[in-house]
Amino acid sequence: MPQANYSPKEEALHNLKTEMEGNQSLPLQESNLVFGDGNPGAEVMFIGEAPGYHENLQGLPFVGRAGKLLTVFVDGIGWKRKDVYITNIVKRRPPENRDPSPEEIAAYTPYLMKQVEIINPKIIAPLGRFSMNFFLPTAKISRDQGKVFWWKDKLVVPLYHPAAALRSTTVKEELKKSFVRLPAILKKYEKFLEEKSAKEEAPEETEHKRQQTKLF
Ligand code: URA
Repeated sequence: MPQANYSPKEEALHNLKTEMEGNQSLPLQESNLVFGDGNPGAEVMFIGEAPGYHENLQGLPFVGRAGKLLTVFVDGIGWKRKDVYITNIVKRRPPENRDPSPEEIAAYTPYLMKQVEIINPKIIAPLGRFSMNFFLPTAKISRDQGKVFWWKDKLVVPLYHPAAALRSTTVKEELKKSFVRLPAILKKYEKFLEEKSAKEEAPEETEHKRQQTKLF
């Protein structure tokens, strides 16, 4: 039962989690639900592939070796893990850490969509190709990681999966370079949104010059 001091986003996420827990038709029922972690009002949402061994045990995403590296990268750009939101496209662990199947991805994505809708981040950063190809079906991770794409009214910045960075120094360097750009991308997008709403407001302002702008 949600507590009275829950924010509307917290409450909506809580309800979504309860709905997922009750949906026995979702695949991978033998493992635990790993719903997501972080700030429900986050500006940036990182989306991985599926929980692994440690995530399944703790019920939290990205808490194993790859997760620790993700946390290092988040800290490294002056953000905090608790301020962003971290989840996966598939929310239960595939056996032996195999890749999630297209059927598993299809079964879980409506819930991911609801989660994105509730959190309503400005930037979505898919980690690795599975999550990237959901948002950008024709993108290629080695070609497109670090580039900025539109997805609905949001920006999508695909990144290498941190597990791949644990296996290759080159990938780690590329991932670090892309991470370092994220704060500037967010700032620029926020400026764009401000200017856009200023423009939308402008016609009204020229007709009613004394009307107070809603931007300040
Ligand atoms: N890899 C993922 O894609 N997600 C996790 O939560 C952990 C490892």
